[in-house]
Amino acid sequence: MRNTFKTALLAAALLTGSGSAMAEENFFLWLVNFTRQKEVQPVDNKAWNEECGSCHLAYQPGLLPGKSWAKLLDEKALADHFGEDASLDDDTLKALRVYALENAADKSWHKRSRKIAQATADGEAPLRIVEVRYIKRKHHDITEKMIKGNKDVKSLSYCNTCHTKAEEGIYDEDTVDIPNFGGHDYD
Ligand code: HEC
Ligand code: HEC
Repeated sequence: MRNTFKTALLAAALLTGSGSAMAEENFFLWLVNFTRQKEVQPVDNKAWNEECGSCHLAYQPGLLPGKSWAKLLDEKALADHFGEDASLDDDTLKALRVYALENAADKSWHKRSRKIAQATADGEAPLRIVEVRYIKRKHHDITEKMIKGNKDVKSLSYCNTCHTKAEEGIYDEDTVDIPNFGGHDYD
């Protein structure tokens, strides 16, 4: 990360030196992108949003490693997906599987995805994001009263009930607002 930053400063120096407005704009876009790398790559696939966003948030592929998506995005597995039938036609399933595997946590450079990839590197292939050690640890202090006992949340799986920017792939604790409890300084 430190090296990336050095490269950034060097690039900035070179670009400013050239004095071109175009170069400055490119640098700005690059910087915006660099900042985004902190979180999770947002979903940029229409079919994924439609097929996987009707019962819960369309989870970003960068929230699980490829081996988890491979297990989840299987014909048999989808027919009994956490007790629901989430079956897809063959072509859609193939396309969504490719999309998930190409953008999985272990293929992403986004900071949170890297942490998820590291937390699952030792052979685990959790079927749930909330079972990933890193994610579990982050929610350690949240009580059942705030989840199951909270009519506006019900399950930790409904990330976007508390994470106000979850759809954009942003999970930073400063963007949390637990319904009926408040922000991350709830305690
Ligand atoms: C018919 C409804 C339905 C559809 C469609 C659906 N899901 Fe789900 N999904 C569920 C339910 C129910 C759960 C469990 C939620 C809970 O435990 O509270 C779940 C849970 C998950 C989880 C685990 C979340 C966690 O960490 O607890 C993942 C990952 C997931 N779904 C991915 C997908 C993907 C990818 C698709 C699209 C191919 C999809 N789902 C489509 C109903 C659905
Ligand atoms: C009941 C509300 C709630 C739900 C639902 C929830 N979270 Fe969180 N999450 C929180 C709170 C509160 C924190 C901050 C914890 C802290 O400050 O110690 C947090 C922290 C996080 C963090 C770390 C943020 C940081 O700044 O370090 C990540 C990543 C995260 N959640 C992802 C998820 C994902 C993915 C889901 C869904 C699968 C989810 N959360 C569901 C309340 C929730």
